[in-house]
Amino acid sequence: MAGARTSPDPVDGDDAPPPARSAPEHRSPQTSDAVPDAARRDAVFQVRGVTKVYRMGEVRVEALRGVDLALYAGELAVLLGPSGSGKSTLLNILGGLDTPTAGQVRYAGRDLAAASDRELTRYRRRHVGFVFQFYNLIPSLTARENVAVVTEIARDPMPPAEALDLVGLGARLDHFPAQLSGGEQQRVAIARAVAKRPDVLLCDEPTGALDSATGIVVLEVLERVNRELGTTTAVITHNAGIAQMADRVIVLADGRIAEVRRNAIRVAPRELSW
Ligand SMILES: Nc1ncnc2c1ncn2[C@@H]1O[C@H](COP(=O)(O)OP(=O)(O)OP(=O)(O)O)[C@@H](O)[C@H]1O
Ligand SMILES: [Mg+2]
Repeated sequence: MAGARTSPDPVDGDDAPPPARSAPEHRSPQTSDAVPDAARRDAVFQVRGVTKVYRMGEVRVEALRGVDLALYAGELAVLLGPSGSGKSTLLNILGGLDTPTAGQVRYAGRDLAAASDRELTRYRRRHVGFVFQFYNLIPSLTARENVAVVTEIARDPMPPAEALDLVGLGARLDHFPAQLSGGEQQRVAIARAVAKRPDVLLCDEPTGALDSATGIVVLEVLERVNRELGTTTAVITHNAGIAQMADRVIVLADGRIAEVRRNAIRVAPRELSW
């Protein structure tokens, strides 16, 4: 199928190398506190001067007011900020679900802001896994079938059972969403997002609907995916305690980046002060 495409694709042509992943051997538990040097060099995303204005009739909302940001290969970044500060807008733009009003969003060197809808669809399908607060599983399909919906159209997917094993649900393959807890459903959603081996995993309040004990299990799964697969991961949360598990913490306020800080050590989800 790849050979059938002939036109150059500004976002996602075959000549576009996937962004480098961090080497998992450099992220052993002893050293997972530091972003590998390679990750510092390789920006997966380069965001420059991004604004987003929503217009609804007379009402004009400036959701993003000039965002400059890089996300690096293999890092786990946590995005914090008050409600309405632009976190979801930024994540949706990174994931090709939305486009900026102005500015550049370079993914592996290509500008998503200039991409067509068709190119963005292909970009999302190939490179991005999404996890949202609500799991959006198909109720009439089992856990395995929910994951297969995605792997059937992916280029080099994991078998659904392997993805579900990665999130600790290898024994629940044939269970329907209604037979799973909220945390387990979210882990199925994560398995679905990672089974196509995305380069980036974008999570918008993945623990927002969960109690703390269940949320920690979900965060452990995200941490494991980031560490073992080297998937560049961004997690939006309202819970400042979660920021301790990140390589870097990005704080938005009023549509701008208010602060970026690097954690000296990455705290394991189980050790977080929630
Ligand atoms: N589709 C839209 N149409 C109009 N305004 C929008 C739209 N999406 C977001 N906004 C506005 O843009 C601003 C930023 O919204 P965004 O959803 O990015 O915030 P957020 O930081 O994710 O907030 P929360 O923590 O509540 O999810 C808000 O004022 C919001 O009302
Ligand atoms: Mg939001």
